[in-house]
Amino acid sequence: MLSALARPASAALRRSFSTSAQNNAKVAVLGASGGIGQPLSLLLKNSPLVSRLTLYDIAHTPGVAADLSHIETRATVKGYLGPEQLPDCLKGCDVVVIPAGVPRKPGMTRDDLFNTNATIVATLTAACAQHCPEAMICIISNPVNSTIPITAEVFKKHGVYNPNKIFGVTTLDIVRANTFVAELKKKGIEKNLGIGKISPFEEKMIAEATPELKASIKKGEEFVKNMK
Ligand SMILES: NC(=O)c1ccc[n+]([C@@H]2O[C@H](COP(=O)([O-])OP(=O)(O)OC[C@H]3O[C@@H](n4cnc5c(N)ncnc54)[C@H](O)[C@@H]3O)[C@@H](O)[C@H]2O)c1
Repeated sequence: MLSALARPASAALRRSFSTSAQNNAKVAVLGASGGIGQPLSLLLKNSPLVSRLTLYDIAHTPGVAADLSHIETRATVKGYLGPEQLPDCLKGCDVVVIPAGVPRKPGMTRDDLFNTNATIVATLTAACAQHCPEAMICIISNPVNSTIPITAEVFKKHGVYNPNKIFGVTTLDIVRANTFVAELKKKGIEKNLGIGKISPFEEKMIAEATPELKASIKKGEEFVKNMK
């Protein structure tokens, strides 16, 4: 991720000034001041595909947005702070990325995050369903296996559900896994890219993990059904 940022910006800058329709995405980051939100917003500000970047959080967004707005790429950047500013942050968005929530502390599992993050994701996605129902919604907040069903159920409740527009984003976990495996193998990182053929042992492991996955999905669905 950082090496991509360090690359000379000239090619990206040239593309930044293209006026083609695909290069006009209006993107919101909800949870933009956090450990994931800030570097993610920086990457988006460097993307030639983004024309408007709106950054929402319950803390620090004015400063984060001001810093990013100084980068000489095309996307305009504006910060939004607190629930009353959330609708304006979302209006007109094509893509909403959500890393808002609490991260794991040592000894916690992803499921331990459920109680806090379920409410945060349900509240934020309800605002998306109201103010940008056509947008692609990308959920990073954990546990992703439950926050995706939460998002789907919230969109269903609002009558705007489109399964093709709701995504779980696990890129960070995947690049970490690739790096750790590469370190253990002491081989080049490319060796670990791609899933490849699944062995009988891996098939057995997937089968064993499936009931837990289904339980996480049900937990997310039930959470929204029981919401007032
Ligand atoms: N999917 C993945 O691959 C992956 C990988 C790592 C972490 N995560 C998850 O991403 C989430 C964020 O991690 P982090 O390290 O950035 O945490 P962090 O604590 O650094 O940042 C979270 C941000 O969310 C904000 N926030 C909290 N409640 C909010 C609300 N109601 N509305 C808007 N913003 C709110 C906080 O103010 C903070 O800025 C965690 O749930 C973590 O488990 C996902």
